[in-house]
Order: sequence, then structure tokens, then C-alpha cells
Amino acid sequence: MARSFLGRKGLDEARLEAELLVAHALGMDRLRLFLELDRPVSGSEIDAARDALVRRGRREPVAYITGKREFYGRDFAVRPGVLIPRPETELIVDHAREWARARPADAGAPRVLDFGTGSGCLAVTLALEIEGALVSASDVSADALHVATENAQGLGAEVTWIEGDGLGPVLERGPFDLVVSNPPYVERGEASELAPEVREYEPEGALFAPEGDPDRWARELLDAARHLLAPDGLLLVELGHRQAPRALELARSRGLIACTHPDLAGIERVLAARGETHDALEAGRIRSGKAR
Ligand SMILES: C[S@@+](CC[C@H](N)C(=O)[O-])C[C@H]1O[C@@H](n2cnc3c(N)ncnc32)[C@H](O)[C@@H]1O
Repeated sequence: MARSFLGRKGLDEARLEAELLVAHALGMDRLRLFLELDRPVSGSEIDAARDALVRRGRREPVAYITGKREFYGRDFAVRPGVLIPRPETELIVDHAREWARARPADAGAPRVLDFGTGSGCLAVTLALEIEGALVSASDVSADALHVATENAQGLGAEVTWIEGDGLGPVLERGPFDLVVSNPPYVERGEASELAPEVREYEPEGALFAPEGDPDRWARELLDAARHLLAPDGLLLVELGHRQAPRALELARSRGLIACTHPDLAGIERVLAARGETHDALEAGRIRSGKAR
């Protein structure tokens, strides 16, 4: 019934989502749902399942209904007001780990910055994945930082949080050995191409590039790179699907060494830039799959 309801609402993954939402309403995971098929269901559980299905039928993202989304193998809390972590953003973690592995043993604890941290998925993951990393993360949104703090506490990561607008507040705390960012890069004109789940539910400030300029944050980060990055430091920035050629040109015209890395769909998704030639930039190129 749940599945056919979501199917009638035109949802492609009606079966999977129905199972996830009913399991969530019953306070169990999807596997347990099948193991406990005979379990009696209470009236309040039926109400909770109905409520979850109606919300999904109105195109609310599953992650906002269940309150969580997996990122790099860990569950992150998410709520309206904070961007839902995307699988393609995991590519930044892959390259950051590769960079950390290639660092000289005597280089000291890496200082890491995540600009525009949202749920904290990158900051928390890097704090847990890169040994000894001293991670700072910033966001202009107090709502996002609440969720990020909650995630760090829940997952046992230590992160210094910076609430502030733009790069000013983070430049004061630099330089950093590694700067990562998944900034807002969607153009307003592309809003109609977004799924209703994204367009109608996710925070505008996390999605849309300021002043209609999709390259604004890549440009600002590249302009600031020489102050923001320590010598031999690396900048990793997530890019929109048509952004790579412009981002490369921006980096190279500022005298930086740069390349882009494709995601699993073949889209050049991550810009890697640094001030000096460093073999690790090219050697760390991961063409597909996860380097875990
Ligand atoms: C695309 S989301 C990325 C969130 C998270 N890093 C992730 O990958 O899921 C961009 C984030 O940048 C933040 N942001 C937008 N404008 C900002 C600004 N002027 N200063 C700092 N952060 C900003 C948003 O609040 C949002 O959390």
C-alpha cells in the first residue's frame, strides 16, 4: 500500500522509499522490517508511517523525514535549513585522504579548513579520517552550525566552528594545509532543472551562487589561496557540472597549479589547486571508485 501510494505520486524509487519510511516510523532499520514481519503495529506507529508517506508524497526529501543521511559510511543528522550531503562530495574526502597519505611524516599535524560546512559532513569526516588533523569549519548559517556541532558530538569528532560570512573570518585563523569547500554554485536560471525535493525544500543559501555568479566562491577561494594556504597547502573545491573549464582558467590565471577530478558520472567535479608544483596533485588523481 505504502509502495503503491508513492508510486502513484510519481516517485521512481517508490518501493525502497516506502520501506525506509515505514521502517523509520516503526523505529527500526529496513532489514529489521523484514525480520519482524509478524510484529503487531500500534495505532501511533500507523499514524507515524502515514505522516511520513504523505510528506514524501509532497516531495519532501527522505533525509528530512528520517532526519539522517549517510556520508562516507557514517550517518549525519540533517534537518530543513541544512543541505543534505551528496555522494559526489565524498570525492573531496577521497582526495583529501590521498593528500594526507602523501604528506611527509615530519610535516606535523595538518591544519584543515572546511568553508561552508553545512551539516559538517566534510569537516567531521576529515577529522575522523585524517590522523591528527586539526579541523576548523565555517558557515554563515547558525542553523547549519547547530546541526554540524550535533554531528561532531555524535560521531566523536573535534572541530573548531566559525560562524561568519565569507572568507574574512577564516582568513584570520589561517593559514591551513588543506582547505576544502563545497560552496553554493547553482545558477538561479538552473532552478527549474532542479528536482522539486531540492528546489522546494533545501536552503536557498546553500544551493544558489550569490549574485547569479556560479564561480563566485571558487574565484574568492582562489584569490585568497596564497594567504589561506600554507606553503604546499592544497585547495579542493566542489564544482558544478559546467564549471570545470572556468575554474581551471581562474586558478591558472592566478599562477596556481591546478587540475580537476571527475566524479563517478564523469563530471569534472573537484578542483584541486596549490601554489607550487607538487607531484601529489597529479599522483593523487583518483579516476573512479573510492580509495578507502
Ligand atoms: C552547498 S552547501 C555545502 C554544505 C556541506 N559542506 C556539504 O557538502 O553538504 C554550502 C554551504 O555554504 C554556506 N554558505 C553560503 N554562503 C556563505 C557565506 N557567505 N559564508 C559562509 N558560508 C556560506 C551555506 O550556509 C551552506 O551550508
